Amino acid sequence: MRLADKVALVTGAASGIGEASARTYAREGAKVVVADVNAEGGERVAEEIRRANGAAEFVHVDVLDTGSIERMIAFAIEKYGRLDILHNNAQVTSGGRIGDLTLDAWRRGIEGGLTSYWYASKLAVEQFLKQGGGTILNTASVSGLAGDFGLGTYNPTKAAVVNMSRVFAIEYARKNIRCNALCPGPIGTPPLAAMAERAPTVIDPIKEAIPTGRLGTPQEMANVALFLVSDEASFVTGAAYVADGGLYAHSGMPSLTGITAGGW
Ligand SMILES: NC(=O)c1ccc[n+]([C@@H]2O[C@H](COP(=O)([O-])OP(=O)(O)OC[C@H]3O[C@@H](n4cnc5c(N)ncnc54)[C@H](O)[C@@H]3O)[C@@H](O)[C@H]2O)c1
Repeated sequence: MRLADKVALVTGAASGIGEASARTYAREGAKVVVADVNAEGGERVAEEIRRANGAAEFVHVDVLDTGSIERMIAFAIEKYGRLDILHNNAQVTSGGRIGDLTLDAWRRGIEGGLTSYWYASKLAVEQFLKQGGGTILNTASVSGLAGDFGLGTYNPTKAAVVNMSRVFAIEYARKNIRCNALCPGPIGTPPLAAMAERAPTVIDPIKEAIPTGRLGTPQEMANVALFLVSDEASFVTGAAYVADGGLYAHSGMPSLTGITAGGW
């Protein structure tokens, strides 16, 4: 088992990528703290992990509340005696055209999408330093590497998460602490389903823009996450690890295949 004897805390673990990651870490032997604002969903995930002979506990967290983040980290350490893996993953963002956001919406997006990741990481690092090491994985996005239309605070916060991960990585590299960012492309999880409900025609163009022609699955993200938090990635730190079906590899130009053959 790739995470035997490790204690892993995953935020936003009641759904989507966080849920798949929590289940995967547990299957690989980690004791998992399932953290989410959605108590019903989080309890369900923890219970299902236990029923599959894994170790998991749910803790309620609202990542917009710093006191709640402090209690979440303390819970993991009290419950399992240590913390080896922090996976910041909960999604809080403010959508809309960037110039139309109110100041309050902007601040909420930054607080939930960036400050919460930083604060949990800072507290985890305090524990890692006492233990002699640990690893942080931040779910960022390909939206942290380039811009999108209409996503409000999402692109700015995800870009900041990518660069913050690099800074944690270099500042603590000699303390046996790694920090990486996972950059998924569009994944079939509830936020995308909610978008599709509001605008059913939006999903096909998204699939079309992805070279593989389909959305990714939460498990495909959990597979990459598992590698990044495991000792197999012991020399990987400060990376922005893209897992997007080729979306970010494309410049955005339309296909010129068939037009350029024979020279241009
Ligand atoms: N789905 C995608 O296409 C995609 C693409 C790139 C990056 N991501 C990122 O992956 C991460 C997970 O997204 P997902 O698609 O699995 O979404 P999801 O909605 O399935 O899961 C997000 C979880 O965060 C929890 N959450 C929301 N507000 C919270 C709060 N204030 N405190 C604590 N928890 C809170 C939700 O209850 C939910 O369980 C996010 O950071 C998201 O930005 C998703």
